[in-house]
Amino acid sequence: MDLTQPLDEAAVAAIEGGMDRYAVLVFPGQDITDAQQLAFTEGFGALETTVAGNVSKASEARLDVRLADVSNLDQHGKPLARDDRRRMFNLGNQLWHSDSSFRATPAKYSILSGRRVSTGGGNTEFADMRAAYDALDGAARAEIEELVCEHSLMVSRGVLGFTDLTVEERAMFAPVRQRLVRTHPVTGRRSLYLSSHAGSIVGWPVPEARAFLRDLTEHATAPRFVHAHVWAPFDLVMWDNRQTMHRVRRFDAAQVRDMRRTTVAGDGPTWQAQAA
Ligand SMILES: [Fe+2]
Repeated sequence: MDLTQPLDEAAVAAIEGGMDRYAVLVFPGQDITDAQQLAFTEGFGALETTVAGNVSKASEARLDVRLADVSNLDQHGKPLARDDRRRMFNLGNQLWHSDSSFRATPAKYSILSGRRVSTGGGNTEFADMRAAYDALDGAARAEIEELVCEHSLMVSRGVLGFTDLTVEERAMFAPVRQRLVRTHPVTGRRSLYLSSHAGSIVGWPVPEARAFLRDLTEHATAPRFVHAHVWAPFDLVMWDNRQTMHRVRRFDAAQVRDMRRTTVAGDGPTWQAQAA
């Protein structure tokens, strides 16, 4: 497919069908502009913005507010210094997560365009949360069925020791609730809704919740559930955050890596929705 061109309804439906089935799709050779990427993304629903999702100042932004800057670059196109606050914050992307699970309405699809890709490291790995759920035994499924977790960027960044946040940032990153088990609205498949942003389970002591979430994450990210994407220039990778987790692997910080993400917002909060 050529995603730089407007897609007709049949093409959008075909991609949605592929997403429902596979949860991750790769479109090689898409030399796409920001405007074209935004137009492609809008075909799948309302766009999420990057507001309140990072520690970058608006005045330092390299991209439109509807594009998440997943590069290692400053506003002048230069790689960020090793100890730059924005870089240290972005290192959280190396932990398994689901995009925007720290938002009350979390992300549906993420669409990531590799404009300049790393040549050493920098793979993006995907873990299938449906397969991880299916592999649980009946007792484990029963135990997690109704659990609700609290997610915050302070949790994932805290794991890496990045706790230097302003009062405003702490308020912005206040925890939100998400169900631990999600049901896909089309296929009816269950999946584990895990993310490194999850730091507690409602009604549980925090240490017990964190130990349990760590254990579930270890299960869910076993090699048999994981696919590693090795980037080529102009790959466009699309994934369903409701059904997968992902992480980026370590890469050379001195090399220019220009990755741009557009995001389709979810339908609404997850934690009140009764699993079907
Ligand atoms: Fe991500």
